[in-house]
Amino acid sequence: KKVVLAYSGGLDTSAIVPWLKDNYNCEVIAFVANVGQGDEELAGVEEKAIKSGASSCYIVDLREELVNEVIFPTLKTGAVYEGQYLLGTSMARPVIARAQVNLALELGADALCHGCTGKGNDQVRFEGAFAALAPQLKVIAPWREWEFNSRQSLLNYLAEKNIPTTASATKIYSRDANLWHISHEGGEIENPWNEPSDQIWMWTKSPEQAPDQAAYVELSFEAGELTTINGQAMGGVAAIELLNDIGSEHGVGRIDIVENRLVGMKSRGCYETPGGTILLAALKGLEALVYDRTSLKYREEVGLEFAQLVYDGRWFTPLKDALLAAATSLASQLTGDVVIKLYKGNVTVAKRRSPNSLYSEAFATFEGDEVYNQKDAEGFIRLYSLASRIRALHANKG
Ligand code: ARG
Ligand code: SIN
Repeated sequence: KKVVLAYSGGLDTSAIVPWLKDNYNCEVIAFVANVGQGDEELAGVEEKAIKSGASSCYIVDLREELVNEVIFPTLKTGAVYEGQYLLGTSMARPVIARAQVNLALELGADALCHGCTGKGNDQVRFEGAFAALAPQLKVIAPWREWEFNSRQSLLNYLAEKNIPTTASATKIYSRDANLWHISHEGGEIENPWNEPSDQIWMWTKSPEQAPDQAAYVELSFEAGELTTINGQAMGGVAAIELLNDIGSEHGVGRIDIVENRLVGMKSRGCYETPGGTILLAALKGLEALVYDRTSLKYREEVGLEFAQLVYDGRWFTPLKDALLAAATSLASQLTGDVVIKLYKGNVTVAKRRSPNSLYSEAFATFEGDEVYNQKDAEGFIRLYSLASRIRALHANKG
């Protein structure tokens, strides 16, 4: 029997390889997704997998599809979870799970395996994707089965199996990185009365240490799609990397939240999404020029729904396509340029323009004009407030 394991080279998945062989008497194929987590994490991962007992290791570069199929479309919907989280981990899961399924089908494997705990969102996201894409494959979630309950017990197990590891018994934080973000959970931040220490943050400068001089960056969009940065055309992966660099330097994109997991529990998380924070601010800056009131409200509703869908692992559903179609249709008007100002953690729209702008200095001004007759407002307000007037008249009679 063959099992394809979503493998990272960390302690958990290193222990899963021999555990699967012991408990399922199977061949283990390591699948490593490159979602932009960085060269340090990917370095030597194949050798590690083989040393753990995997029969082979496949490293697949998923950065392009992550950006073009998930991140950019999700951005258009304006999806933000619980008001702050830009969904970095959530968005990567469907892409990873799909590539894992494809490999399993190609190799004729019998089962899929992941290293997510039984307490979190990620298990739901992986298995939600597996169910939609390959319901016939068996799913193995060791964390929900085995008896290990600490890093030390995993280390002991690896020692027993003569598998070398550089992992240590104490690792303070649980982190997850990709092109879009890095997340930090655990350690002192499990207590919400502790401010995150400086060791938490890995990508961004603190706003206190950011330069005293503001930086400006110009982003251009066509139909809601990023086309150039400072006039320079570039692909999505490179664009996000560039914005991550600029944003990190200026302390942009840190959030520290308590969130509701799908499984019902609350968790504390610190996230760094520098480039994403800039992109979202720019798109929203453009929306403000282009969308009328009801379009904007509808886009916000779509964003709310979409954030929930992505967070909850419902990517491979017809609802995803329907919501994306709505957001894409609205975004057909989102063409223009936005200049973003970055200063000590702040991101503001300094300038914006669009050929589709509904903003008209001529209408907004207090000078007389042709299109807007102030006398029309009188009738509008009388009808708009009709119900209030009738209610008040009734109350006065009573
Ligand atoms: N709480 C965030 C989410 O659900 C981040 C999860 C991080 N996952 C991880 N395996 N470290 O999307
Ligand atoms: C995990 O439990 O594997 C990480 C946290 C999460 O999925 O929410």
